[in-house]
Amino acid sequence: MTNHEATSLRDLLCASIDESHVGRSISVCGWVAKRREHGEHLAFLDIRDRSGLVQAVVEGSVDVRSEYVVRVTGTVTHRPEGTVNDRLATGRVELTDCVVEVLSAAEPPPFQLDDRLEIDEQVRLRYRYLDLRREQMQHNLRLRAVVNSALRRAMDDQGFCEVETPLLWAPTPEGAREFVVPSRLHPGEFYVLPQSPQIAKQLLMVGGFDRYYQIARCLRDEDLRADRQFEFTQLDLEASFVTQDDVLGFVSRAVLDAAEAATGVRPDAIPSMTWAQALDHYGTDKPDLRFAMTLQDLSEVFAATGVKAFSAATVKALRVPAGASLTRSRLDQLTEQAKSLGAKGLAWFRITEEGLDSPLARFLNETEAAAIGAVDGAQVGDLVFCVADEYALACKVLGALRVELGSLPVGEGPHVYVWVTEFPMFEGVDEDGNLQAAHHPFTMPHPDDLGLIETDPLAVRSQAYDLVLNGWELGSGSVRIHRTDVQSRIFTALGISDAEAESRFGFLLGAFRYGAPPHAGFAFGIDRLVAIFAGEENIREVIAYPKTQSGADLMTGAPKGITERQLRDLRITSAPKG
Ligand code: AMO
Repeated sequence: MTNHEATSLRDLLCASIDESHVGRSISVCGWVAKRREHGEHLAFLDIRDRSGLVQAVVEGSVDVRSEYVVRVTGTVTHRPEGTVNDRLATGRVELTDCVVEVLSAAEPPPFQLDDRLEIDEQVRLRYRYLDLRREQMQHNLRLRAVVNSALRRAMDDQGFCEVETPLLWAPTPEGAREFVVPSRLHPGEFYVLPQSPQIAKQLLMVGGFDRYYQIARCLRDEDLRADRQFEFTQLDLEASFVTQDDVLGFVSRAVLDAAEAATGVRPDAIPSMTWAQALDHYGTDKPDLRFAMTLQDLSEVFAATGVKAFSAATVKALRVPAGASLTRSRLDQLTEQAKSLGAKGLAWFRITEEGLDSPLARFLNETEAAAIGAVDGAQVGDLVFCVADEYALACKVLGALRVELGSLPVGEGPHVYVWVTEFPMFEGVDEDGNLQAAHHPFTMPHPDDLGLIETDPLAVRSQAYDLVLNGWELGSGSVRIHRTDVQSRIFTALGISDAEAESRFGFLLGAFRYGAPPHAGFAFGIDRLVAIFAGEENIREVIAYPKTQSGADLMTGAPKGITERQLRDLRITSAPKG
């Protein structure tokens, strides 16, 4: 077998040495992970490279310390009885009669590179290049590379063409705040870093590339969270002469291939539900389906109720298995959480042998009490929460409690995918009373709802869809508008004037006049996908050089000032720090 890892300096990777090599003289290169003395003239060195560790036994004096870079040449030997370490891949062998060449000396590292230790993240990020030597980061970034290559293969196999689109670009319609880049040659004018290749890829459709994809870097100046960075990477795709189902098929193939490559198991075909079903059953457009717990509607039972707390348009209920043991202070805390989401209150009912236990129980009539006691097959020992309010709010509040009480951390347990389709076209109105696009303004309305755009816009469904994994939005896409008449009706509904549309998206609208094929697309976040595959809660763990929560790069010190000369060239006057 050819050994692709051999170089002029090394024969094998550390962790690939095993009993089949016993008796051979072998060179490895790496870092000294640990040094242990055994008497005055015998030292054990753990040598680490990207594959793992091997033990080298060195006789005589050797001047190396932790993190020195060394080349060790020694004879592969069985470890003496009693010293075999079964936790280590190379734990049955060691290198003996070693010659150690120091390739580079090292100062003591600012933290111990040991995966079993909890290390302050600020320190890890300040010295990311050291952190990257740790097994966890080696594993995560390699897993990411495996995912990227499976995605590329899946897209290539499906006839997609990879095209790179510019980073110095003009505003895009994703709706986040944008990073801008001042132009030296056009003082006072700016490029905008793309929030996604959205417009560029639609233009590629006009340009006749009927299946495009890109592993695309996107930039958005938004508040950072566990699943959000300023810079992130999408698998972005667009295709012409297709329907929504075609796109769902392309993306499913890519995601399932990536999952199989990353985990060794191919998930089942991804089921789908409509946005309305997701809201109704799970109280959210990104349902976490790793656990059951569905919302139940009790509005009819309470339609003519005498209980004031329950007289509302909608009464929704949620059963919490074994929830009767929740303490009073936990229930108070959950009530506060419900209120912070806009609920007027949160009713709870413990299911006991004697019936419902709740401050509200005595106000209920028999039918109402029976309905609550039967929510979702409730059993003695369970608890039922009820929220009476407007439909959407009741769903949202119970959806949040469902996640709070039922959910695992995102990276734990099974991986459960679901498509959510038929998102609403508009998601409410802004301060100026203009409708807001739920996805982006180029999304095609549902064909059955075209007549409602002017009369009942909030009821208009769109041909937009999301892919959800374990309660995280993995990606979004839509069938696009390729007809100018529909596009101008949507701009009018969004309060975007002809002049504004022309100045923001004129080049796209202009291109559409020259023959735009019907097209549709999708993009999903590779950072999020890999984080879940890696069992991580934060996408920082699968990014080589991420920003902190406050947007700083602790290693380079960015963002930071630039020189007077640079400022002058760009004709920028730096405002004093506020
Ligand atoms: P959207 O804005 O929904 O759609 O983004 C698609 C996916 O990109 C990921 N994502 C992020 N990941 C990390 N950090 C962020 N700040 C961040 N923002 C978004 C998410 C998200 O689901 N152009 C459209 C797609 C299309 O219609 O084709 C778009 O970008 O996983």
